[in-house]
Amino acid sequence: MSQRFSTDVLVIGGGAAGLCSALNLAEHCRVTMLCKGGIESSASHWAQGGVAAVTNPADSVSSHAADTISAGAGLCNEMIVSTTVAQAPEIIDSLINWGVEFDQSQNSFHLTQEGGHSFRRILHVADATGRAINERLTERALDHPNIELFNDRVAIDLITLDETVKNSKHCAGAYVLNTSTGHVEVFQSKFTILATGGASKGYLYTTNPDGSTGDGIAMAWRAGCRVANMEFNQFHPTCLYHPLNKSFLISETVRGEGGILRLPSGERFMQRFDPRMELAPRDIVARAIDHEIKRLGIECVYLDISHRPKQAIEQQFPTIAQRCKDHGIDISTDPIPVVPAAHYTCGGVLVDQKGATDISGLYAIGETSCTGLHGANRLASNSLLECLVFGTSAARDIIERLDTKLLQTKIPKWDESQVTNSDEEVIISHNWDELRRSMWDYVGIVRTDKRLQRAQRRIELLKQEINEYYSNYRVSSDLIELRNLIHVADLIVHSALSRKESRGLHYNIDHPEPDPSTKNTILSKKSVTALDFSQPLAS
Ligand code: FAD
Ligand code: SIN
Repeated sequence: MSQRFSTDVLVIGGGAAGLCSALNLAEHCRVTMLCKGGIESSASHWAQGGVAAVTNPADSVSSHAADTISAGAGLCNEMIVSTTVAQAPEIIDSLINWGVEFDQSQNSFHLTQEGGHSFRRILHVADATGRAINERLTERALDHPNIELFNDRVAIDLITLDETVKNSKHCAGAYVLNTSTGHVEVFQSKFTILATGGASKGYLYTTNPDGSTGDGIAMAWRAGCRVANMEFNQFHPTCLYHPLNKSFLISETVRGEGGILRLPSGERFMQRFDPRMELAPRDIVARAIDHEIKRLGIECVYLDISHRPKQAIEQQFPTIAQRCKDHGIDISTDPIPVVPAAHYTCGGVLVDQKGATDISGLYAIGETSCTGLHGANRLASNSLLECLVFGTSAARDIIERLDTKLLQTKIPKWDESQVTNSDEEVIISHNWDELRRSMWDYVGIVRTDKRLQRAQRRIELLKQEINEYYSNYRVSSDLIELRNLIHVADLIVHSALSRKESRGLHYNIDHPEPDPSTKNTILSKKSVTALDFSQPLAS
């Protein structure tokens, strides 16, 4: 039997963004949180480096803002940047109040360094910062009487109702697959927050967990929200290269602590690409590695931290040292084989400074959203910060509107009358592989118009096949995720084709120069237009 639930706020996603909003809201109303899997299904759980925040009096908020804007290559919203980085110290206090114990050194925070930061300003918990944050916030959420957490739930689509008064749409919750029972449930809510993370699983090689399939972006797009800057996919330069471990990240803080990138010959090479060498922003380092791999026909490059004292390495990088050791690599003596891999979705659902989307009652926060903070390239360790800042501001905005009544409209139940059980699951696995490989080969670190057009043709065919399959068969989590990824891939390629320049994470050999009149890419269902973030959103 499929069930119905109703709540004040439905939070879809239990990573840093979802947990932060839920904990802020729970002091004022009932919150229902949905997660696809357990706590480790979120990217937040795997975050290594840390959270960027100015805590050292010698550093400054304006320097953090300037580094963010410089990495963002001309497309950051400077108002969003300055308000976000200014809130970072307050966010760190909230995390400490929730029980997160950042590493200390001589009675102050131990601060580490990452690419593009002109100051040591990354607070961390060894090399497993995300796990520490997610565990503490999850414990708090589980203990809170106003938060009900449902695992093994995959949101399929948002429920939207036409608001006759304002002639616009209102989000009234979501249809959700219970993967334990196979039934589709109705979650009705006054407010809905999408906190479903990014879409890096659309690429063959990624640092992300399996659930990063762009569900929130695809659901919001189908419901009628605009999405922005989808062409800016961040590739992390250093993912472990090992046949038995395809998606383990080697944190940028390894380079921050002196790690050197070398060719198989032992030669250092980053000085040929940028004076900041290993600590140049990620787009530059990832492109340099990609260039060397292709130029020399090699499988990987090496990250060497072996010149640092063994004890310091093991103290700061216990997780990385252990994982490498499991694969026979002693990082205190051996260089680590690394390759770039898809890591972060800079674009997403277009929101205002409170996380509000184009649809009333619907918010998007964290990696699912596009706030204007990252522009064309995210600065390291600014993502957890964004999750927490926007998780807090979305919650505050909702709290002010809590007297909204739950709509009394009876939501129709999920219609399964036209579908049967699938007899050809192979279509799903085949199409997954084809999509991820096409994205890697044609929409990767270095793009051309021809490659993008090739990807567009493949995606069009896949989209038709998946949509047909979706109309005829009962939904499964694999099918839901694949359908979302196809829709997101379509948005990525569409955006990439419309950007006739190279900037930040989007590098196209056919248009290698930046265009001085550049704009953010904003897609709406009606048209593809380039508008500036400074234009206010319709409310
Ligand atoms: P996530 O943490 O990905 O959470 C998404 C949640 O949504 C999950 O609970 C998932 O189960 C749920 N979900 C998804 N779809 C559905 C659905 N359809 N129905 C129900 N639930 C759903 N950033 C930093 O700032 N510092 C770092 O040090 C850092 N290190 C990183 C290391 C790694 C290996 C990775 C992958 C990323 C790292 N990042 C880092 C990026 C950062 O971790 C993420 O951008 C951020 O954690 C995203 O948080 P989120 O809450 O938006 O989404
Ligand atoms: C890392 O530790 O290298 C990841 C940091 C980030 O993605 O911000």
